[in-house]
Amino acid sequence: SFKPRIFSGIQPSGGLTLGNYLGALRRFAGFQGTGPETIYCVVDLHAITVWQDPAELTRRTRELAAAYLASGVDPEQSILFNQSQVPAHAELAWLFNCVARLGWMNRMTQFKDKAGKNSENVSLGLYAYPSLMAADILTYHATAVPVGEDQKQHVELTRDIAAKFNHDYGTEFFPAPEPLIEGSATRVMSLRDGSKKMSKSDPSDASRINLTDDADTITQKIRKARTDAEPLPATFEGLKDRPEARNLVNIYSALTDEPVNAVLGRFEGQGFGTFKPALAEVAVEVLAPITAKMTQFMADPAEIDRILGKGADRAHAIAHPIVERTKEIMGM
Ligand code: ADP
Ligand code: NA
Repeated sequence: SFKPRIFSGIQPSGGLTLGNYLGALRRFAGFQGTGPETIYCVVDLHAITVWQDPAELTRRTRELAAAYLASGVDPEQSILFNQSQVPAHAELAWLFNCVARLGWMNRMTQFKDKAGKNSENVSLGLYAYPSLMAADILTYHATAVPVGEDQKQHVELTRDIAAKFNHDYGTEFFPAPEPLIEGSATRVMSLRDGSKKMSKSDPSDASRINLTDDADTITQKIRKARTDAEPLPATFEGLKDRPEARNLVNIYSALTDEPVNAVLGRFEGQGFGTFKPALAEVAVEVLAPITAKMTQFMADPAEIDRILGKGADRAHAIAHPIVERTKEIMGM
């Protein structure tokens, strides 16, 4: 049996959104001190599967590290590092490229979404992304992976890769990690289109709330968010066919840590003229201190680099022996 260990990563591929925060980031600190070892990563090797301006990538790597720190990830209690500084990730990913099947990759919905109609002209790395993600998780023998709903399929693929490796080599070397997908904000949707997830790569800035947005910007974006003209119902059931309204209520519930029906109990019969300003207020209340702390950490990039460097040494100490053992099992 495997020692409980939590791993998760976020790409430094753009400004962080409220979706990243509620679905992933803000949950990470909460696992500290609960038993499992916690390992959190800036996954720059994933970011470069699409074009990244080099200077921007460096800046965003530090900004994401600052966001981890600002949301309570403590580099003493957790291992916090940048993926490309630990060679085990890329090395194990290659070994897994030779275990994973082409047909498995072809079923990945994120690749289809990101490649769109242009799939002949995207990088090979974008296609192999889930194999690298399996390596990220399994090079620590992680047993649990807190993520948003959009990553569920990739964690399942990680389990498939672990199982096939174990089966092919007649071993129990890799664990089957569990996705931890919890709460009312596992899939925060775009503010402009209730059928699309809120994403840092959406071309419309009005579609998302960024962790770096100031109070006025957050309030404006929520005021302009797409909704319908109906008043709020008494229970969540009444929001079934109202994706935009449901999204705003889910966000409110996640921000205040209240059950959705408790939120609706207070706003039942009210329109968005009342609900949106209330939502903007709680969003600003939660995000303003995070933004302020991020700014503080960003003022000292050398300190961020020092923290990431120390984290990389600790990560390497766990990951390297696991890759070495994997190669041995394979006869290398
Ligand atoms: P993005 O999809 O914004 O590029 P990443 O792929 O780096 O972000 O994902 C980082 C984490 O944030 C993952 O755990 C992912 O599931 C989560 N996440 C991303 N977007 C959302 C969203 N709209 N709602 C909830 N969680 C999300
Ligand atoms: Na994602």
